[in-house]
Amino acid sequence: MSNPSLLILPGDGIGPEVMAEVRKIIDWFGAKRDLVFDVSEDLVGGAAYDAHGTPLTDATMARAQAVDAVLLGAVGGPKYDALDFSVKPERGLLRLRKEMDLFANLRPAQCFDALADFSSLKKDIVAGLDIMIVRELTSGVYFGEPRGIFTEGNERVGINTQRYTESEIARVARSAFELARKRGNKVCSMEKANVMESGILWREVVQKIHDDEYPDVELSHMYADAGAMQLTRWPKQFDVIVTDNLFGDLLSDLAAMLTGSLGMLPSASLGLPMANGRPKALYEPVHGSAPDIAGKALANPIACILSFAMALRYSFDLGTEADRLEAAVQKVLADGLRTADLMGPEGGSPVSTGAMGDAVVAALDASLN
Ligand code: IPM
Ligand code: MG
Repeated sequence: MSNPSLLILPGDGIGPEVMAEVRKIIDWFGAKRDLVFDVSEDLVGGAAYDAHGTPLTDATMARAQAVDAVLLGAVGGPKYDALDFSVKPERGLLRLRKEMDLFANLRPAQCFDALADFSSLKKDIVAGLDIMIVRELTSGVYFGEPRGIFTEGNERVGINTQRYTESEIARVARSAFELARKRGNKVCSMEKANVMESGILWREVVQKIHDDEYPDVELSHMYADAGAMQLTRWPKQFDVIVTDNLFGDLLSDLAAMLTGSLGMLPSASLGLPMANGRPKALYEPVHGSAPDIAGKALANPIACILSFAMALRYSFDLGTEADRLEAAVQKVLADGLRTADLMGPEGGSPVSTGAMGDAVVAALDASLN
């Protein structure tokens, strides 16, 4: 059998820097665990625009469709702010999500013991926090038609459309219930059924999938605004949260910041199974391209490294190796290593992006003893 294939799209800003550390991890698994990946690399976002005048070429799109998993760094930056909407770096990422049909976006928000003091919330509210947001990623207001800026009479009107079909809701609900069974067995579904018809349908379909297929999982429903409030009040009440594309965008940033460490959080975007049984998949850190610190060796590579751990778990069924990598990250944090984003107000001496990656590799080595 041929080696599993990975397409690496480092993208913009700190993307290439953090991805260089992931390369070290991938190489380690090849050398020390005999898990050899066929890795290729390509451009996305502003980097692709600079080279080709588009944030994602058709050729890159085709490569992404053909591999077992895509690893993406980050896209965007002020340099591209003035570009036409249709060629903005973000359009490259949105095209990947849409054309690969990556409908289930898994965003864990996990509070690392060593970092519980970093949250803006009190330590007892976040210590031990481990929730999973499942965000619908290929529909809703991000993609609904009609959309555009139109002229009506003597003024312009900006239009986007929130739209969900039953099958789109059902499939992401199933993803959430499946995940819940492997975790705390609880799902909370969030929408605005009090205001939006799409929310009414969302609630109905999630309930029906639950009753017909997952009655063993505990299901609750919350309006998304109340959900935001509850996430800051007592986040540990949640296990899996399932929600739409836009609410998921907002709630996952909120949940990420609860943990105090946006630079730490990975994500997986999963689609339907391919012929080989693996899901279509793209893995990326939750953080952005952080142009203000790009090129300074200040970036925290952990979110991107943990995204690769998610790839091991969800694409390659290598849960034990994913555990090993996550434990290695926990170890370097417990040992006190901190990149600049993890420096408290009292300061300290941060390690570079590369030193953090090397430390994770060393911790992986130690895991073999
Ligand atoms: C995210 C980001 C993206 C989104 C942007 C970069 C298009 O905020 O992945 O959460 O809005 O989905
Ligand atoms: Mg976002």
